[in-house]
Amino acid sequence: MEMQRKSKGNFSSKIGFVMAAAGSAVGLGNVWRFPYFVATYGGGTFLFVYLLLALVFGLMMIIAEVAFGRKTGKSPIGAFKSVNPKFGIFGFLAALVPTVIFPYYSVIGGWVTKFGFQYLRGGGYYASHDGFFSNFNSTFWDPIFWLGLFILITTALVITGVEKGIEKVSMYCMPVFFLMLVGLVIYGLTIPGAMEGLRHYLVPNFDNLSVMTFIAAARQIFFSLSLAMGIMITYGSYVKKEQSIEKAALQIGLLDTGISVIAGMLVVPTVIAIFGDEGLGQGAGLMFITLPRVFEQMPGGNAIGAIFFVMMLIAAITSAVSLMEVVVASVMEWFKLGRKKATIAVAIGSFLLALPTTLGFGVWSHVRWAGMNMLGIMSFISDTVLIPIVALSLSIIVGWVLKPHFIRDEVTAGGKHEFKTEKLFFFMIKWVAPCLMLLILVTSILNTFGFITI
Ligand code: PFF
Repeated sequence: MEMQRKSKGNFSSKIGFVMAAAGSAVGLGNVWRFPYFVATYGGGTFLFVYLLLALVFGLMMIIAEVAFGRKTGKSPIGAFKSVNPKFGIFGFLAALVPTVIFPYYSVIGGWVTKFGFQYLRGGGYYASHDGFFSNFNSTFWDPIFWLGLFILITTALVITGVEKGIEKVSMYCMPVFFLMLVGLVIYGLTIPGAMEGLRHYLVPNFDNLSVMTFIAAARQIFFSLSLAMGIMITYGSYVKKEQSIEKAALQIGLLDTGISVIAGMLVVPTVIAIFGDEGLGQGAGLMFITLPRVFEQMPGGNAIGAIFFVMMLIAAITSAVSLMEVVVASVMEWFKLGRKKATIAVAIGSFLLALPTTLGFGVWSHVRWAGMNMLGIMSFISDTVLIPIVALSLSIIVGWVLKPHFIRDEVTAGGKHEFKTEKLFFFMIKWVAPCLMLLILVTSILNTFGFITI
């Protein structure tokens, strides 16, 4: 998404903003991360808490960010500063989040690129072999090569400014991807044992409910909806007054959540059908180990796998472009660099920052901190430290400093639109969001350092 060079009000059509925001939101978070969070944090119990929080909390956070962006008409740092010059630090932290996420996002993007090529050249059969994924990661150069290629593709798109083109491609691909996921779910459920897995996915068991379930769900919501990273604030600054923020938030939230739920319905039951309950513990590799086995059983599986991974790559790239854009915009602002130089610097810096994460799945897998590998450590920094601080400050500013009537005016555009969820919105922003963010911040840090066990 081209954010810095846009003139105000550049989302000329209403659907433009929704598509751009959905392009950023729908990505690896839905198809790679959501199913493995469900598998790790309790199946149906996690799904239940996720849906509850996404629909009552996630949507309100989208409204808050977009309204804040449109009200101030500024980039994140400028938006926070315009409330009080001292608040610039929160804009800086918001820009730091994608700086941490983009490198590790690219590692997973590299895996998708690798699998895409593997299927395109007809080698899906090998991808379904036991050990294919771990062998790939245990080599030194192979994962680094694919990581580099993913960053290169993203950089080329950002530098040449053809992201608009890719966004259009993604707009056409999204419905196809959606239908494909639904088709795969139907096929997956015919695998013996998958119905048992479906039950695990859909039926909550509240005996498993813990603080951890809420924390994991909230972490995933921010990641999946591209929240607390300055992205929605920036998009908000380009949204015209004629557009209803509330409606747009609902569309973006439902689309993103719908795709996650369907991806989970594909991955979780098939994991259980193929590997049994132990399969749920495969962590970040879950999708890459399970889906090739599903494709392998299908007639025409190689072609289906190829289309699947190419579509997923497109979704990953549109999200990665939006992540890289915010980092580039901030580097341009801080270091007074031109766009091209800033983009190249970000590409090189992100590649270097991504190396420990990628090696953490292979030759550096022994490097652990509080039981986490490098991916765990990077997402710990972004999800449980930086994001809660940014979201906490945002909710306090929107809920308490700016005061309800400013936000009401913004969301209704001076009475043009309805604000049906107004009461819920202010309750969420003033009370629930700050409490939840403090809970995440404090408990996850205490838990990580072994002071408490959750
Ligand atoms: N929301 C994207 C996904 O779910 O894959 C990832 C992402 C994009 C996160 C942009 C953050 C962001 F700023």
